[in-house]
Amino acid sequence: MAELKAKFKRPDAIPSRRDNPLSPEKAALGKVLFFDPRLSASGTVSCSRCHDPALGWQDEFAKAVGHEGAIGRRRSPPVANLAWASAFMWDGRAEDLETQAALPIAAPEEMNMDPAQLPEVLDSIPGYAPLFEAAYGDPAITTDRILAALATFVRTIVSDEAPFDRWIAGEKTAISDEAKRGFILFNTKARCAKCHSGWRFTDDSFHDIGISRGDLGRGAFVPPEIEVLQHAFKTPGLRDVSRRQHLMHDGSLVSLGAAIDHYVNGTEPRPSLSPEFQRIQLDASERADLIAFLQTLTAPLSELRAPELPH
Ligand code: HEC
Ligand code: HEC
Repeated sequence: MAELKAKFKRPDAIPSRRDNPLSPEKAALGKVLFFDPRLSASGTVSCSRCHDPALGWQDEFAKAVGHEGAIGRRRSPPVANLAWASAFMWDGRAEDLETQAALPIAAPEEMNMDPAQLPEVLDSIPGYAPLFEAAYGDPAITTDRILAALATFVRTIVSDEAPFDRWIAGEKTAISDEAKRGFILFNTKARCAKCHSGWRFTDDSFHDIGISRGDLGRGAFVPPEIEVLQHAFKTPGLRDVSRRQHLMHDGSLVSLGAAIDHYVNGTEPRPSLSPEFQRIQLDASERADLIAFLQTLTAPLSELRAPELPH
């Protein structure tokens, strides 16, 4: 048991990147940019609109709502614990957070803004120059610096300590007996940890678990011969999962019970289905234990105040 629990221990520090090292000043600039709707064409859509800290860095919709009310094709995932991730977006099409940051800015249904125009927009707001100077040593505003600061801020977003973490750290009564049984099921009979592994509860890999009908997910970026990546999506981390109002890349399920039922009931076979996606058998009390465990992964919502925007 001690060995199993050790696999779920939180790391002590956020990893820094050599080509974009973490600094408090750069993260502070990134935070302001993240909350600033002036990065969008309409002046109303900030990153925080879809990744709202008050909702756990996500929104309340099944599918993202962006520029002039446009509805996107996928759900806004919570942005947390991404400093440790190796691919970004449900389909992994962004290889780092710097590249990722440009995508929602440019997407017509999200912020609808050419990232190359952002320096001009921010140059017209005098309050930004001192923030760039503090972050980079001189006040020049460039697209690369904007994206690097956004990526830096996103790297600093880490899930808060949940009851599960206190149990892993040795506090025996931090979670209930039901949840402890659920943890064992998660790692054994229910097979969840085959994909939702480690302290972030993701293997950073892509699997078809039978949710998608039309969307090819990772499959759009690999040859069709690679069958197991067709309809495959990134395994979402499960920290703070009970805060999500919609689940799966398309927001098609709405409760933990419904998610578990999906693994119990299975789905029509197709060649792309992950070999790790196998029907599981749980009786009613095991199902309840598994839900009790998943609920211990959610930390109390910490209050984060939106930064004051420069003018
Ligand atoms: C209109 C809503 C919306 C806005 C605005 C938005 N996002 Fe997102 N975000 C999404 C959706 C939807 C996805 C998933 C897209 C996909 O997988 O195709 C996503 C994915 C991400 C991811 C990847 C998460 C992961 O687990 O791989 C990051 C990081 C992120 N957004 C950061 C940002 C930043 C930074 C901004 C502002 C520059 C931003 N987002 C603006 C909706 C939004
Ligand atoms: C084959 C790998 C695999 C296994 C095994 C697996 N999952 Fe998943 N899980 C995924 C993938 C991939 C998704 C996202 C699928 C999608 O959106 O199309 C997902 C989504 C979820 C979600 C929704 C989270 C969100 O933010 O959308 C929950 C909850 C979940 N799984 C719980 C479980 C539980 C509980 C088990 C064990 C009974 C389990 N998973 C077993 C790969 C797996």
